[in-house]
Amino acid sequence: MPPVKTATLRDPADLSEEEAAAELADLAARIAEANTAYHVHDAPIMPDAEYDTLFRRNAAIEARFPDLIREDSPSRRVGDAPAAGFAKSTHGTPMLSLDNAFDAADFAEFTARIRRFLNLPAEEPLRFVAEPKIDGLSVNLTYENGSFVRGATRGDGTVGEDITQNLLTLKQIPRRLKGDHPRRIEIRGEVFMTKPDFLRFRDDQILLSEGRERRREAGERAGEAVRIPANPRNAAAGSLRQLDPAITASRPLRMFAYAQGDSSEPVADTHSGYLDRLRSWGFQVNPLSESLDEADIPAFQATMTERRAGLEYDIDGVVYKLDRLDWQARLGFVGRAPRWAIAWKFPAEQAQTILLDIQIQVGRTGALTPRAIMQPVNVGGVMVQHATLHNEDEVARRDARIGDTVILQRAGDVIPQIIGVVPDKRPKDAAPWEPPTTCPACGSPAVRPEAEVVRRCTGGLICPAQQVERLIHFASRRALDIEGLGIENVELLHREGLVSTPADIFRLHRAEAVARMRTFPGWGAKAKGESKKITNLLAAIEDRRAPPLERFLFALGIRRIGDQNARLLARHYGSAQAWRDAMLAARVIGSEAREDLGSIQGIGPSIATELVTFFEEPRNLAALDDLLSETRPEEAKAVSGALAGKSIVFTGTLTTMTRPEAEARAESLGAKVVKSVSKKTDYVVIGADAGSKATKAAELGLTTLDEDGWRKMAGFA
Ligand code: IVH
Repeated sequence: MPPVKTATLRDPADLSEEEAAAELADLAARIAEANTAYHVHDAPIMPDAEYDTLFRRNAAIEARFPDLIREDSPSRRVGDAPAAGFAKSTHGTPMLSLDNAFDAADFAEFTARIRRFLNLPAEEPLRFVAEPKIDGLSVNLTYENGSFVRGATRGDGTVGEDITQNLLTLKQIPRRLKGDHPRRIEIRGEVFMTKPDFLRFRDDQILLSEGRERRREAGERAGEAVRIPANPRNAAAGSLRQLDPAITASRPLRMFAYAQGDSSEPVADTHSGYLDRLRSWGFQVNPLSESLDEADIPAFQATMTERRAGLEYDIDGVVYKLDRLDWQARLGFVGRAPRWAIAWKFPAEQAQTILLDIQIQVGRTGALTPRAIMQPVNVGGVMVQHATLHNEDEVARRDARIGDTVILQRAGDVIPQIIGVVPDKRPKDAAPWEPPTTCPACGSPAVRPEAEVVRRCTGGLICPAQQVERLIHFASRRALDIEGLGIENVELLHREGLVSTPADIFRLHRAEAVARMRTFPGWGAKAKGESKKITNLLAAIEDRRAPPLERFLFALGIRRIGDQNARLLARHYGSAQAWRDAMLAARVIGSEAREDLGSIQGIGPSIATELVTFFEEPRNLAALDDLLSETRPEEAKAVSGALAGKSIVFTGTLTTMTRPEAEARAESLGAKVVKSVSKKTDYVVIGADAGSKATKAAELGLTTLDEDGWRKMAGFA
C-alpha cells in the first residue's frame, strides 16, 4: 500500500467555491472507491490513516461550504465504510433502510400492497405506529444479560463500526436494562443533536476555529483544523466518529430508540408494545410517536408537516410501521427495505428571496457556470445565499434577471436550487441577463460550441482558474505519470507560486525553487543534508523530460484529446514539433493542414475544431513552446501495415483467442477498436454466432474477415 501522504492541504477557508466543489467531487470518488475496495473486494487500496485523512478533509470542506454538500457525499452516505480507527462490528440482523412515500397516493399504494401480500380484505383495519423520522445516525446497541456490551454504527447495513466507548458517554443509553429483559437483544435507535444544541455547538466551533486561524496567521502552533458542522446531522455524525470518547462526551448528543434487531426471545406482539418495553428498560422513545388507524394517517402527516419547523430537532418525514409484529414477520423485506414500514417524506422546503447578482465561476475544466447571489434567506433551517444556475440556458429558461424575486428550494434538503421567478415582483428596469463572451478569470474568449450547453474558456494552459486542474492532469498517472506530483503537491506548488504552467514543473530543479520548497512544512531537510522528498520529486520529473509523444499530447489536456485521440495524433504526426506546426497551419479553414487533420481516422471535425481553438489562443501556444523548450517528447514510431489508422469491429466469438487479446493486438498494430458498425468502419471481424453487427456489415458492404483472415492480417501464424 502506498504511504500516507503528509503534504499540507490547503486550508478550506482559502478555497474558492469552485475549487471546493471540485475537491469534494474528487474526495467523494476516492472515498467511494476505497469503500468498495474495502467492503466489496476486501482488498483495501489505502492505509486506514489515509482514508481517515480523506474523510476528515471532506468534512472540513463541507463545513466551510455547506451549500456544496453532495448527494453522494461520504458524510451523507448510508453505506459508509467503517471509519478507520474503529473495529468492525457485524450486526445480528441487518440494519435496513426504508422506502419513501411522498404523498397520500404513495401511502395508499403501500397499504394496498400490505393487504395484497397478507390477503386481507379491504375492511380489515390496519394499525400503524407513527414515529417522526429524525435525520441523525442510526445505531445498534447490543445487550447481553441486561448489560450494554456493544454499540455500532449502521455502516453498510451488515457491518458497522464499533463505537461502544463513544456511545457509553450518552446519558440516554442505559448501561443496564431495567426490569425483565431477554438474555440477548439488539436495540436500534437514532442518535441526534437538537437544533438549539447544534447552534451553540457550532458557535463554539467557530470561535475555536477563529482562534486557530489567528494562531496560524501569527505563525504559532495552531493545532488540528476545527470542523464547523453544516447541520445537526453532520454534527452528530462527527461527534460519534471521534476516536477519543472524551470528545464525544462533551457533545450534546441524544438518542431515541425505535426498532429491534436480533433478540434471543420475542419481547412483544406489537410494535407499540415493543416501544412500551423500550421505555420500561430505560430508553427514551420519541414522545410524538403515536399508534394510529390507517384512516387517520394523512391527517397525522399534515399535522407533523405543520409542526416540523417548531420541533427542537430536524425531521424529514414520518415513519409508519405496521403495528402487528406477526404481520411484519410475514411481510418481510424487499431488497433492503421492509414491506411493513415506510417513510413518508415532507416536501422539499421553499423560500423566496431577491436575486442580487449573477456571477460567473470558471471551473477547473474551463466551464463557465453562472451562479446566483441572493439576499440571504432561511430555507428549511439553513441560511442560503448562493445557488448554482447550472448553465446559461437555465438562466434563459427561467428568464432570471437581476432584481427578480426567485423561489428557492433545497433539493434533498441540502443543495439550494432556484426553481422559478415571481414575474409579478419583477422591477420594471430588470434587463435579461447576457452570458459573457470572455473568461472572467483570464480574458481569453469564452466560446460555446454548437449543440453544447456549456460555455468554456479557451485559455487552457494559461487561465488561472484552470491551471491547477491542468497541472494535476499533466502529472497524473495516465499522462506524464510524475511520481510524487499528486493533487496535494500540485496544489501546494501552485499556491506557493512555483508552478503555474507545465513548463514550470521542469524548472523546479533550479536553485531558487529548491530553496523555496525546502521551506514547505515537512519538505525541508532536517539538517544540512539532502531533503529526500525534494530529491525524489526532482528525480521523478527528470525521468519524464522525454515522454512518449502520445502521453505528452494527452497531458496537455486539450478538450476531447483523450488518450485514444492523442495516440492517433502521435502516430499521424510523429513528433511534437511536426504536430505543433501542423496545428498552427490548420487554423486556416480549407488549408492542406486542416484537410490532413480531418483525414485522420477517428479525428472528426469537432475534435479538429477543439485542437484549432486551442492554438488560436496565442498564450496557449506560448505555454506549449515554453514546455517544448524544457522537454523532448519522444518521436512516435510510425505504425505501418494494413491496420494502421484503421477502425475495426469484432463481433461474435473467436475460437483461438479471447476478445480482449484480439482487441489489444489490433490496437498494437495501430487500429482503432470500435464497438459498433458504421459506414466508416474499415474491417469487421466476424466470429462464431455473430448477430446484427455482421448483418449490418453486409448491408453496408464493408470489408469482413473471418477468424482465419483476421489471424493472417494480424500476423498470427
Ligand atoms: S426504522 C427496518 N424508525 O431512517 C426499519 N428508522 O431510512 C429501519 N430513522 O437508517 C429503520 N427515524 O437512520 C426507523 N423512527 C424511525 C426512524 C428511522 C429515523 C432513520 C434511520 C434509518 C433510516 C432508514
